[in-house]
Amino acid sequence: MTGFDTFYTLNDGTRLPKIGFGTYNEEFADNEKPIFEAIEAGYRFFDTASLYETERYLGNAIKKSGINREEFIIETKLWIDEMGYDGAKKALEKSLKRLGMDYVDIYMIHWPRETGDEDEDWKKLDRETWKAMEEMVDEGIVKRLGVSNFLPHHLENLLAGCNIPPVVDQLELHPGYSQEKALVYLKEHDILPMAWSPLGRGRENATVGNSVLVKLAAKYGRSVQQINLRFLLQKDILPIPKASSKEHMISNANVFDFELTEDEISMLSCMPQTAWLNEHPDFYIPEKKSNPDNI
Ligand SMILES: NC(=O)c1ccc[n+]([C@@H]2O[C@H](COP(=O)([O-])OP(=O)(O)OC[C@H]3O[C@@H](n4cnc5c(N)ncnc54)[C@H](OP(=O)(O)O)[C@@H]3O)[C@@H](O)[C@H]2O)c1
Repeated sequence: MTGFDTFYTLNDGTRLPKIGFGTYNEEFADNEKPIFEAIEAGYRFFDTASLYETERYLGNAIKKSGINREEFIIETKLWIDEMGYDGAKKALEKSLKRLGMDYVDIYMIHWPRETGDEDEDWKKLDRETWKAMEEMVDEGIVKRLGVSNFLPHHLENLLAGCNIPPVVDQLELHPGYSQEKALVYLKEHDILPMAWSPLGRGRENATVGNSVLVKLAAKYGRSVQQINLRFLLQKDILPIPKASSKEHMISNANVFDFELTEDEISMLSCMPQTAWLNEHPDFYIPEKKSNPDNI
């Protein structure tokens, strides 16, 4: 069994492979090779975003693979400067064009706030954006909806006024940043947590510089990265690791033949939260603008 032939069931009854592939990487911006290799390695669930400038390369790699579009789950996100009712509609149009597709499987709001200013009416902005996204589902150009970086208070606002609840919430999650309160909320509301930067983006304190992870890796004869992924899976979280080498791609999917003990999961969940990337959804204001149309 690998991450490709075992599945999570979403709150709308559909299934997602337990391991997806992240495409946020500078080197992907001018190169569809790693994405094509991920398809060859067996990945069928891909995460991208308007911001990443990888939508076009993902679309090209899928066409080149000769595998039917229907066999893939494609997830993309609208960026903070694309929020609002009209903004969302235009954003999807552009994403579909870049992907060369006529629908996406999961469409997400990337961050819950646009400016992070104290007087920003983010509650209204999120609801208006969501209304446009629900219409996309009705039109069939989006199959289901998701959010990203939504904490319980952001979800509370959305769930109070929506007709279609999100199926997933993509959060920074890995040993050393496991957002336990958000996980409890998501479980209560039947929203699948998805882990971005599941390998702590390769930072030392989230991987090889973390003595607890290193010890467990030695015990199981696995890489530290495989311990990270196992930890997330045993907490019913879907990780979307990014990898450039085929060796990493394959090893990230092969984490279903060993199990951490309950004590080890507890130990990792209770580690000091020292490996956070420092991007708080209420205060982080990224500078980069959404994808130019030609990329
Ligand atoms: N929603 C959001 O706000 C948000 C934010 C950030 C990311 N994301 C999504 O989450 C995805 C994953 O996060 P990420 O790209 O930040 O980082 P990540 O997946 O946590 O880490 C990627 C790093 O780990 C290395 N790596 C991968 N597999 C490995 C292995 N088996 N052994 C050793 N090293 C390995 C990669 O190196 P190589 O490339 O050399 O293989 C790369 O340096 C992104 O690509 C994106 O799709 C979403």
